[in-house]
Amino acid sequence: MPKYSSAQSLQDGLDVRPQFSRDGAVVDIPRRRMAESSVDPETAYHVIADELMLDGHARLNVATFGTTWMEPQAEKLMAEAADKNLVDRDEYPQTAQLEDRCLDIIADFWNAPEPDNPIGCSTIGSSEGCMLAGMALKWRWKERQEKAGKSTANPKLIVGANVQVCWHKFCRYWEVEPVEVPIRPGETTLHPEDVAAACDEDTIGVIGILGSTFDGAYEDIAGMAKALDKLEIETGTYVPIHVDAASGGLFAPFVDPELVWDFRIERVQSINASGHKYGLVYPGVGWVLWRNEEARPEGLVFRVDYLGGDHPTMSLNFTKPGSGVVAQYYQFVRLGYEGFKRVHQHSRDIAQMMAAAIDGMDEFEVIADGSDLPVVAFCFKGANTTSGKPKKDSYAANVQYTLNDVADWMKQGGWAVPAYNFCADRENLEIIRIVVRNAFSRDLAQMFLMELGRAVGRCDGTGEDAGRAFRH
Ligand SMILES: Cc1ncc(COP(=O)(O)O)c(C=O)c1O
Repeated sequence: MPKYSSAQSLQDGLDVRPQFSRDGAVVDIPRRRMAESSVDPETAYHVIADELMLDGHARLNVATFGTTWMEPQAEKLMAEAADKNLVDRDEYPQTAQLEDRCLDIIADFWNAPEPDNPIGCSTIGSSEGCMLAGMALKWRWKERQEKAGKSTANPKLIVGANVQVCWHKFCRYWEVEPVEVPIRPGETTLHPEDVAAACDEDTIGVIGILGSTFDGAYEDIAGMAKALDKLEIETGTYVPIHVDAASGGLFAPFVDPELVWDFRIERVQSINASGHKYGLVYPGVGWVLWRNEEARPEGLVFRVDYLGGDHPTMSLNFTKPGSGVVAQYYQFVRLGYEGFKRVHQHSRDIAQMMAAAIDGMDEFEVIADGSDLPVVAFCFKGANTTSGKPKKDSYAANVQYTLNDVADWMKQGGWAVPAYNFCADRENLEIIRIVVRNAFSRDLAQMFLMELGRAVGRCDGTGEDAGRAFRH
């Protein structure tokens, strides 16, 4: 006879019955309507957690720039801050303090003229930062035009064909015409002269990208500024720059400190970054900063007093958890400058190691080798031509399978890696992109390469030669 019965344990508040077969755990929970009755929390947890197992493993997802690993201490702090509404600055003054400190730290990284008086805010991600910065550009342009007695009917924003979708959203939502500057044949980022040539007096601003979503390449922000200086001297037209540093803003200051792309450039009026990319925090936290008060029109700021106190707010949404900001501050405290540099340099080293291995394969040619953001992009050998047609007699000209086939086989091996067509103007070029992030270890990178070798062998029927990526 057992010493304690299940019933006795339940009375004691301890449920020792087998987890998946006890009464109440065998339930048929409707998927798209709410059930009539309740279930116990363990059952609810398992039903949902089990379903989520089918999502695959986030760390094996090399498609995303988003952070997929944090230390348990950071996760604990995030959970502890999840019930604090960041907008309630009076009720949660210390969480508000941490947000202010993060802004000071980032303003310092970005060489803001007054880092102790940062003009900016946290956001839910880069997209929100881009919306706010775009609005500021539009307002400032409107003021300039009105002052000069000119029309404000046709605001235009200069973006590259490689721009992230959030800028198309901005233009559509806020009625700004996007002027998409083509990428020159054989290049992957905007040419400064092409940017200046596209501007006129209706231009609210130019978007430069620090870390292209397509291949991780940094755009030449200093070159753009120089071309726009020349334009201003020649035509009198002033065009500001916003830097979309979604990925590079919390990467470049550590591994490329000599690169001049930020507020050191007079013409750069605002910058955004995602804390949840190379800021090393789980989704969703982002940052946007303006150069000074003048760059951020006061009219965009709202003051509310119904939460107590009188606090300026300019974010698009009101309520959000304190978790992202608290975790960002944790990463700054925990890693310090040296730690961030080490983490990011490691990602770059891994990306470059992978790029060299893939470029050495008979099948592929690398078009991004991780020398800017730690991103590796590759196509079939011979596919990267200015005409968009593969080189004669090259592997790309004769291949009988697609990069999508390779990605599908990689998926069966547990890896999520996207194959897609490059940006507008180069859409004939099919590529695979790998984003290397914190916790993508050398060991994981080697396992990825072995799986790539197997995937190719399955596609071309030559056999599952896992070692082909290491032969060179
Ligand atoms: C250059 C660029 N801008 C903006 C975004 C949007 O960022 P978020 O996902 O943080 O809204 C991304 C996302 O990948 C990006 O790469």
